[in-house]
Formats: sequence, C-alpha cells, structure tokens
Amino acid sequence: MAMISNIVAALLLPTLLNAALLPKRATTLIPSTVFDSTSNLEQFFTYNYPWGGDTHNGGARMDKAHVSISSPGTLTLTAQPVKGQKPATHGGKQIAINYLSGAVGAKQHFTVPVGGGLVFSGSFQATTTKGTWPAFWLTAVNGWPPEIDMAEWKGSGKISFNTFNTSSVLSWKDVTYTNATQFHDIKCEVKDVNGKDTQVKFWMDGALQATHVGKDYTNKPFYLVINLQMEGSSGSPGPTTNTTYSVKNLEVTTL
Ligand SMILES: *[C@@H]1O[C@H](CO)[C@@H](O)[C@H](O)[C@H]1NC(C)=O
Ligand SMILES: *[C@@H]1O[C@H](CO)[C@@H](O)[C@H](O)[C@H]1NC(C)=O
Ligand SMILES: *[C@@H]1O[C@H](CO)[C@@H](O)[C@H](O)[C@H]1NC(C)=O
Repeated sequence: MAMISNIVAALLLPTLLNAALLPKRATTLIPSTVFDSTSNLEQFFTYNYPWGGDTHNGGARMDKAHVSISSPGTLTLTAQPVKGQKPATHGGKQIAINYLSGAVGAKQHFTVPVGGGLVFSGSFQATTTKGTWPAFWLTAVNGWPPEIDMAEWKGSGKISFNTFNTSSVLSWKDVTYTNATQFHDIKCEVKDVNGKDTQVKFWMDGALQATHVGKDYTNKPFYLVINLQMEGSSGSPGPTTNTTYSVKNLEVTTL
C-alpha cells in the first residue's frame, strides 16, 4: 500500500507541479461574434479612426454610413467615389478627398506584456486594384512608432506585412496576392522577447509569411484599425465605382 501510494505520488506530483506552472489559458479580448450584429460591432469598435478624426493619409473621408454588418458575421467597408468634399490635411499637406469610405477602430487598446503576447486573426476579402488601400493594422497610442501592418494591400497585386522601428528602419515583406475575390485567413502573433522588444509573426492562409522584431514594442499600447483607405500609397486615380473590403471571423486573444 505504502509502496503503491509512493509510486502514485511519484507519478502524480510532477504532473500537478507542471499544471501549476503552466501558463494561463488564452483570454478572449475580442470574440469572433463581434461582427454578428451592429450592436456587437459597436460594443468593441468605434467608427472612423480610434484617435478621432475621419481622414488620415489618403483620399477617403470615413463615415458610419459606409460601414455595414451582414450575415454571416461579416463587416463590410464600402468606398464610394464622391465629388465636392473638402480636402484632408495630413503631415502639413492637403490631400484631395475623392471617396467616402469606412473605418473602425477597437475601443480597447492592446499591449504586449512582459513575458506575454497577443494573437490577432480574421478572414479578409480585399482588393489589390490601383487606388484601393484596405488595411488591418496596429499603431501606437502614444507617439509613433510602434506600427504593425498585419495586412495591407496597396494596389500592386501584393499583400504587405510591415513592422516599423523608425519611419525609415522597418521590416517588410510583400507577397503576391492571388484569388483576391476570395477570403484569405490572416493571423498575426505578437510576443515579448526580452522585456523590451516584440516578435511579430505573420501568417496567410495558415502559412508563415514573415517574422519581424519591433524595437521597444513591449508594454506600449496599440490601437487596432480596420479601414478602407483610398489612393495615397496605392496610387491615383482610384476606381470610379464602389469598392468593398470585408472581414469575418475576427478574433483577438492573449497568447
Ligand atoms: C485560387 O483559387 C482556386 C479555386 O478555388 C484554387 O484552386 C487555387 O488553389 C487558389 N490559389 C491560391 C494560390 O490560393
Ligand atoms: C528593429 O529592432 C529590433 C530590436 O533591436 C531588431 O531586432 C530588428 O532587426 C530591427 N529591425 C530592423 C529592420 O532593423
Ligand atoms: C455605393 O455605395 C453606397 C454606400 O454603401 C451606396 O449607397 C450606393 O448605392 C452604392 N452604389 C452602387 C452603384 O452600388
């Protein structure tokens, strides 16, 4: 009896200890039901840019009317050509506004903690037509950088994955983007490496595309943005008919 319980204890104890030492289970920060209804969307996202404002670095002015939810669980942003809009100002320059379009920004900020990480994933239907600039990205709440472009399409037939250390020092990977009319799965994992820097891994359709390291990203809060910007980095003129950008199965969890 004693011998058996010693054996049992010897077998069980390491298991119990290991269980106690295991990392916490992933916590859901944005659930995959987020685009099931407008009220779910509005629980987690605001319209336009999360730092305030309806224009940024391209030729679209964002508004709520160009953001829609449809079944099953899909967010669609529509860019519509317009005339007579007042220009945007960005970086001291005026930018002509040729579209009304949609942007949503997460209400919560996301921070990679020391020793931890986050996972952002979703399924995206984006266009690579010249003058269309859909994106799924993280950018610094305080100052800039950090910025991680988890996916952006700049009208070149490619998808880009970027991580900025400074405005001129960045890691980037452009990948030929086929079957643009279909949804493609994007996943980005950000993980603290040394208490300061953050490793960024990008997957498309389950295949790892790039691994970057962002300098001093750990413990810095990020905004999460999904927007259909137009022209700007994607060139001009853009399309003369409506463009759509759709997202489903969006989820954000801790690692
Ligand atoms: C593009 O879509 C077709 C039809 O679904 C599929 O056979 C092909 O493998 C896809 N190509 C890529 C690179 O995803
Ligand atoms: C950015 O900084 C990190 C941390 O110092 C470094 O590992 C990475 O190589 C840098 N990226 C570029 C493009 O230099
Ligand atoms: C373009 O998009 C706007 C906003 O969603 C919509 O009101 C309009 O009917 C669309 N135009 C066409 C031709 O589909």
